[in-house]
Amino acid sequence: MFPDRLRQVQAGVQAALDDALSDCADIAVVHAMRYALRGGKRIRAFLVIEGAALFGIPMSRAMPAAAAVEALHAYSLIHDDLPCMDDDDLRRGQPTVHVKWDEATAVLAGDALQTLAFELCCDPILGPSDRRLDLVQTLARASGAEGMVLGQALDIAAETAPEPLTLAEITALQAGKTGALISFAAEAGAILAGADRKPLAAYARALGLAFQIADDILDVEGDPGKAGKRLGKDAGAGKATFISHLGLAGAKSRALALIEEAQTALLPYGATAENLREAARFVISREM
Ligand code: IPE
Ligand code: IPE
Ligand code: MG
Ligand code: MG
Ligand code: MG
Repeated sequence: MFPDRLRQVQAGVQAALDDALSDCADIAVVHAMRYALRGGKRIRAFLVIEGAALFGIPMSRAMPAAAAVEALHAYSLIHDDLPCMDDDDLRRGQPTVHVKWDEATAVLAGDALQTLAFELCCDPILGPSDRRLDLVQTLARASGAEGMVLGQALDIAAETAPEPLTLAEITALQAGKTGALISFAAEAGAILAGADRKPLAAYARALGLAFQIADDILDVEGDPGKAGKRLGKDAGAGKATFISHLGLAGAKSRALALIEEAQTALLPYGATAENLREAARFVISREM
């Protein structure tokens, strides 16, 4: 069942991340890295593990890739929360890294989590070196100036743009900011298996967009106690979001339609993709 399987992945990925940092120096940056790696839904790790399972790759053999995407994601959150970005003081129910330590520690902890992600992708347990190379290259593209960083840059630029972004522009922004890493996560199993990644890419495109719409909905009507982060930030920053364009009801029905699209993309995998189907439903019903 999905909740049990998600808990299993959460525990496994936490152990892998703890293990990856077990020999590091006893310095503030490493403490901050461990801190930033705690909590979270681990939905990206789940996508890696379940995507790999479609091709018969067991959890233990895909785990470094799952840990990698969570390390990369944790880095992006530390930097996203910095005063020069979203200036947030709460993340996963705890003070953000720059609040708990300082900005220099937060920048460096983010930097080191990013390089850790690529180190994890090189773990020999993931399989032959050409597949690991493909994984590294795909993660690099998803994270950088044509992926997550691009989306973050567009998001920051939008705050001072003379005109609010159009729906097409917001969709493009999202594809980088949130979509790129989710796509990497969903496709990682196919990469490791040397299989066709197109069905999973289509699944992830719809899922990633639904995920960001759900994030925007949470920002408007989420419960701050459950979300573990400050809400109401998008309207406060005068941001055009899916909600400012579609309204709350419109955004919800768009997210639902995207989840159906994501489910349809999984048809080639039949019953083995049930956990990925449930993950799609979870993404739009989540409260955090
Ligand atoms: C939050 O991501 C940031 C976005 C990309 C919208 P998650 O909602 O996956 O955050 P955690 O990892 O569960 O805390
Ligand atoms: C953050 O998006 C996306 C990345 C960190 C790449 P948001 O700024 O919307 O995420 P929250 O709402 O702070 O979690
Ligand atoms: Mg942001
Ligand atoms: Mg933010
Ligand atoms: Mg948000």
